[in-house]
Amino acid sequence: MSLQLNRSQFGHPDNFGRVLSRPEAENLFHDWVKNPRLQLHMRQVAHLMKCWAAETLHLSAEEQWRWEMAGLLHDADWDQWPEQHCRKIIEHLEQLQVSPDILRAIASHGPAHFGVEPVSEMDKMLYAFDELSGLIHAYSLMRPGGYEGMDLKGVKKRLKEKSFAANVSRDDIDDACQRAGILLDDLIAFIIPRQATVAA
Ligand SMILES: [Fe+2]
Ligand SMILES: [Fe+2]
Repeated sequence: MSLQLNRSQFGHPDNFGRVLSRPEAENLFHDWVKNPRLQLHMRQVAHLMKCWAAETLHLSAEEQWRWEMAGLLHDADWDQWPEQHCRKIIEHLEQLQVSPDILRAIASHGPAHFGVEPVSEMDKMLYAFDELSGLIHAYSLMRPGGYEGMDLKGVKKRLKEKSFAANVSRDDIDDACQRAGILLDDLIAFIIPRQATVAA
């Protein structure tokens, strides 16, 4: 099964800046994604994207929502149409005339799978947060206190343990950090306290 998108243009330049309203995005999210674990993953990534836009880039509330929306919908088709991931959500958002930067970020969240290179900072951070967020959440589930007291060292230990969350690609995580120009340690330290606030 190939998920290669075989295209490099997403959305129409005229639609730049166009977004779904929060209720529209939430409706789509609930219509398409029924699996609570996947919902939580998408919410966690959405929150990390928003925090990065706000705290690191100091973007406006409007721009923060673009980042958050990319995170919130990046796996929207994975639950019901995994063989069409992420073609289906991109085509749907194109019909809704969503901003090309959001579409591009979704299309490049797994360059090894979709064949689309992350270029913008939004692209790169979505790619960087995606897998690592999943591993850190898996780690929280095996700790008695969840996120409480979780530290960098513990996460790095789990990363080295290839059998832990074995479906999380360590190569993708390294590749994503390199592309984003961010140290793995810094990324982990950014994720832990912020992700901890997004509860199941
Ligand atoms: Fe995905
Ligand atoms: Fe994801």
